[in-house]
Amino acid sequence: RSYNVAVLGATGAVGETMLSILEERNFPVGEVYALASSRSAGERVEFKGSYLTVQDVAEFDFSKAQIGLFSAGASVSAIYAPKAAAAGCVVVDNTSCFRYEADIPLVVPEVNPDAIAQYKTRRIIANPNCSTIQMLVALKPIYDAVGIERINVCTYQAVSGTGKKAIEELSHQTALLLNGKPIKPEVYPKQIAFNALPQIDIFMDNGYTKEEMKMVWETRKIMGDDSIQVNPTTVRVPVFYGHSEAVHIETREKITAEQARDLLSRAPGVTVIDERKPGGYPTAVTEAAGHDAVFVGRIREDISHPRGLNLWVVADNVRKGAALNSIQIAEVLVKTFI
Ligand code: A2P
Repeated sequence: RSYNVAVLGATGAVGETMLSILEERNFPVGEVYALASSRSAGERVEFKGSYLTVQDVAEFDFSKAQIGLFSAGASVSAIYAPKAAAAGCVVVDNTSCFRYEADIPLVVPEVNPDAIAQYKTRRIIANPNCSTIQMLVALKPIYDAVGIERINVCTYQAVSGTGKKAIEELSHQTALLLNGKPIKPEVYPKQIAFNALPQIDIFMDNGYTKEEMKMVWETRKIMGDDSIQVNPTTVRVPVFYGHSEAVHIETREKITAEQARDLLSRAPGVTVIDERKPGGYPTAVTEAAGHDAVFVGRIREDISHPRGLNLWVVADNVRKGAALNSIQIAEVLVKTFI
């Protein structure tokens, strides 16, 4: 059986990758509809060696699709996800629009695939934030083995997470600066080239940014454990593709670095690269970008805490952090439910 799939945000960084992952993984597609705003209606995007013509979502009849993969921003999903669901489509939504609603499942297939069954209530499944996804793929096996009390995490996030305009801003600023020319930040509040910005998304009343609070809220919801303490600092760095994270956890029972390495080397979706020598760890550019796995290295026991463990976690934010995770959800959905 095949499924008609509507990709909303098809001209964007994530949408384009959704199309190529549908193709790569041979997802059982019938018709594929590329949707975006009226701005890019009529443009063409590549799919399976030919082209799809982009259609304006405002004019699209969602009863033509069984599955919707949405990645055009939260305000767009707020309008079109309920519309599509009412027309009979099941929406996998990559925006933050529905993530915190109690009757909407928030899913990382390696972590809580069973939650997908709850899609029936609203016909919408939320795809988590990129930083949360890769962190939880790495932490789930440890959580299951010894429990996790607290997560202290610092992220080093690529500009592709912000979208195409940010990718262009980093290229452009880099070229200008290398040529001794002045730059004017537009997408980000300060220069992103050759810099690190400790702000992703807006500031909240508690002084954390929304990206940081997403990691707190989403970790609890996906793990189904409100007792997990999460303390994030999220930082944008001048990397195009691939988020890196320094993850420091306090487990309920002691786990050695060797036990953790062994568990992770057998974990679904994880590749361990952990040799204690120069270059014996994964990085965004060299290992993660363009690949599907969540890479883990620098596994070591915390010298400052008896039940502390440190990990370095890297993944392609556009793939596992967004497009791939959404399509893995859709794969479970079609195999099990529709
Ligand atoms: P468009 O090309 O029509 O602007 P990115 O994250 O790389 O910036 O991409 C955002 C994606 O979301 C693009 O495909 C963009 O399409 C789409 N998009 C943005 N705003 C809207 C909207 N109001 N309606 C439909 N699609 C939108």
